[in-house]
Amino acid sequence: MDKFVIEGGERLKGTVRISGSKNAALPLLAATILHKGVYNIGNVPRLRDVTTMARLIGVLGGSVEWVNDQTLRVDSRNVENYIAPYELVKEMRASVLVLGSLVGGLRKATVSYPGGCAIGERPINLHLKGLSALGCEVKIREGYVDVVAKNLRGSKVYFDTTTVGGTENILMAAVVAKGETTIYNAAREPEVVDLACMLKRMGAKIEGEGTGVIRIKGVDSLTPCDYEVIPDRIETGTFLVACGITRGNITIEGCIPSHVKAVTDKLKEAGMDIVEDQNTIKASMFNKRPISVDVKTIPYPGFPTDMQAQIMALMTIAKGVSATTETIFENRMMHVAELRRMGADIKVIGNTAIVKGVKVLSGAKVMASDLRASASLIIAGLAAYGITEVSRIYHVDRGYESIEKKLRELGAKIVRRKDENMGS
Ligand code: EPZ
Repeated sequence: MDKFVIEGGERLKGTVRISGSKNAALPLLAATILHKGVYNIGNVPRLRDVTTMARLIGVLGGSVEWVNDQTLRVDSRNVENYIAPYELVKEMRASVLVLGSLVGGLRKATVSYPGGCAIGERPINLHLKGLSALGCEVKIREGYVDVVAKNLRGSKVYFDTTTVGGTENILMAAVVAKGETTIYNAAREPEVVDLACMLKRMGAKIEGEGTGVIRIKGVDSLTPCDYEVIPDRIETGTFLVACGITRGNITIEGCIPSHVKAVTDKLKEAGMDIVEDQNTIKASMFNKRPISVDVKTIPYPGFPTDMQAQIMALMTIAKGVSATTETIFENRMMHVAELRRMGADIKVIGNTAIVKGVKVLSGAKVMASDLRASASLIIAGLAAYGITEVSRIYHVDRGYESIEKKLRELGAKIVRRKDENMGS
């Protein structure tokens, strides 16, 4: 296993280009199973989760290959297998996104029931409620979900809570269902909109994507298409926070500023100067200490849960006291214990962390527990006095493309090393 060794104290300066969005690429790749054909998907980030999804499409009978640095060619013409095995689903919960496309493409799916993960139980009851509403027969057997759609028909789907994956799965099944489907309390995330855009390019009839009510008119057939993944808004936010904590001055290229409005708004409140252009954000802390600001995570367009750990790292050295409240996942505070080891003053009460800003963190050996907690510890290490070692960085490799290279190009002192204490 690898670790990052970071020597803190360097102010980030220069330009960084954002990669394609992990959370858009995964459903887009799953959607290629909806209709047998050849698809070129561009701006795909080279991430472990993307490799896992490509392996899953391979297991189902498709083939996936990189045709250049960022483009995947997917050939789903031979997809006949409808079983997504435990071995792959346990590696990546987002494998469950093939549920909707297998039902839409093959009218049946057997997908290993995804377990929880570090941040929470993460049930899929709403995905299954939606598929049942579309006329599917859903059974849970020996750790697998069996779905058979003898007659896939449009319906009204009410989500008790907003679910990104649930909205994406129902979208993919509904586009070829007979009749009209309306999804109420649909997720509004840009990644859902990106999936809807690709499905429309394939011939689907969808309205209202990006709002809480999405209407789909089922069509008899779809066609394959080429598509380009949107930039990663969470990577964008992560670099903005890294700039803030090091009191740096960076330009972020190839991003969509409107997708990170909640984050840039919060960072402006914390004292960051932010200038946005079409696909660029210029950010500067002018060597100032950030001001403590309160954050509450809610579904898009609110402050994203995937940025909660990162902004908390910034708050550990801010001036004042702040409250960070996590409302989406029940266990997304595991970065707190590790930040405390670096000298942060954080008290967790329920799902709220009270952070009292300290002047400076001290470098320490810390351990990543999940993807965004890893990002938080890297960010803290960039500003901490001395050396920080972040172990178990396979979590980072799931969701950030070449993060250490990008940070080094901005002046950070960060290297990847073998972690002799953590076995191979
Ligand atoms: C997506 O996960 C993202 N992953 C997550 O990003 C992100 O944190 C999350 O959306 C929320 O924005 C991908 O897109 C691959 P949800 P998803 O269904 O779809 C509950 C990252 O770091 N729920 O919107 O699994 C659930 O337990 C990852 O990149 C049910 O109760 O999230 C959670 O509390 C982490 N029943 C809440 O809804 C269901 O059937 C939101 O989950 C489904 C969800």
